[in-house]
Amino acid sequence: MNTNSSNSLLVVPTGALRISEFTPEEIAKNNPILLSLVIPTYKERDNIENVVNILTGLLDQVIPGNYELIIVDDDSPDRTWEVAQSLIPDYPQLRVMRREEERGLSSAVIRGWQAATGRVLGVIDGDLQHPPKVLTQLLQKIEQGADLALASRHVDGGGVSSWSVIRRFLSRGAQVLGLVILPGVLGRVTDPMSGYFMVRRSAIANTTLNPIGYKILIEVISRGQVGEIAEAGYVFRERTEGESKVTWKQYIEYIQHLIRLRISTGRIGKISKKVNFPVQRFLRFGLVGLSGVFVDMLILYLLSDPTTLALPLTRSKIIAGEIAIFNNFLWNDAWTFADVSMQQKGWKPRLKRFLKFNVVCLAGLVLNVLILNLVFNFLIPNRYIANFTAIAIATIWNFWVNLKLSWRVTEVK
Ligand code: GDD
Ligand code: MN
Repeated sequence: MNTNSSNSLLVVPTGALRISEFTPEEIAKNNPILLSLVIPTYKERDNIENVVNILTGLLDQVIPGNYELIIVDDDSPDRTWEVAQSLIPDYPQLRVMRREEERGLSSAVIRGWQAATGRVLGVIDGDLQHPPKVLTQLLQKIEQGADLALASRHVDGGGVSSWSVIRRFLSRGAQVLGLVILPGVLGRVTDPMSGYFMVRRSAIANTTLNPIGYKILIEVISRGQVGEIAEAGYVFRERTEGESKVTWKQYIEYIQHLIRLRISTGRIGKISKKVNFPVQRFLRFGLVGLSGVFVDMLILYLLSDPTTLALPLTRSKIIAGEIAIFNNFLWNDAWTFADVSMQQKGWKPRLKRFLKFNVVCLAGLVLNVLILNLVFNFLIPNRYIANFTAIAIATIWNFWVNLKLSWRVTEVK
């Protein structure tokens, strides 16, 4: 049994996808290295040794001892992580992370960066489709003052080796679509799909990143404080081993991602920031609440209407109300607070959220009745205005308390 600790895997960071800034103590203590290069892998068993070998050979020449390679493998069935781990004794700059729970290219990259100790954070594919030599140009651009340097297929010296017409068309189509939805971001780079770039830690520290799917560069530019951007051309090579994991699903995710960025960095996002209130979440919560009203009405009709089951009114209302609460919970969990529930997977945490949500909503109902009476009897003797006020306050109560209680982000260090 080999329990050599220098050979062990990196601990997978949990909680929000946020990269921390260096503390002054950290800087004083161990003078951070220059470059942390993340290599996300999924089923790259036959590539990995070659990749590590080539990258190390190159970086040992330009920045010896001043970099680290971090392989982040999503528990590949071909055991890429194991092969990578077995390389550590021969490559002291190599670190390996095996993610067993989370999945996905973008989050893999960010988890790798969270474990990184460098001042510059980079990413390169693990299949040699990104020519390693470009790394030195990217580094140079950063050293010359760029906050972000990307390898681009669409500048001088760039291209794709032998893509089909269809893939070229889809790739360009995606870019044009991106320009329409998010011009302020996509307009800054010639190759927004690039998964080969470097960024200064300081440009993205302390911002929570929330990418979906493949396109992490767009996320970094949208949410980070990225000033100057530089590009270097590269030719996207053919794969020799393994296969691409891109499917139609990535296109859908890409569009979803653009829309989400548009909303959160657009007008609604700005208002949210200014008033320090999660406006977008609240709008979703409100919409879900509205859907609950319809569910409640429908069930009430089905149970208590003389033409249907004709059950007693109170009993029907209790059932209808509970089903509506259940409906609202499902939508809120899957949509309004999806980012939070994604971090707390499994049936137990979900049941816990549901019970909390239930209690909060019941308390909200009591509040609703109380306010209705208060307003009607002491302030405005109009039952509809009073009811509207009661509903509005109860909704805010429901939202706020559920935000703080049911879908709370619990960060474990
Ligand atoms: N950890 C992890 N998890 N790694 C992944 C996952 C995942 O879910 N999916 C893919 N990878 C790794 C692959 O093993 C590879 O090292 C890299 O991410 C890129 O994946 P490919 O499947 O080879 O992507 P591609 O060659 O089609 O796409 C390339 O071109 C795009 C530009 O159009 C990549 O460079 C992308 O990064 C780039 O955006
Ligand atoms: Mn590839």
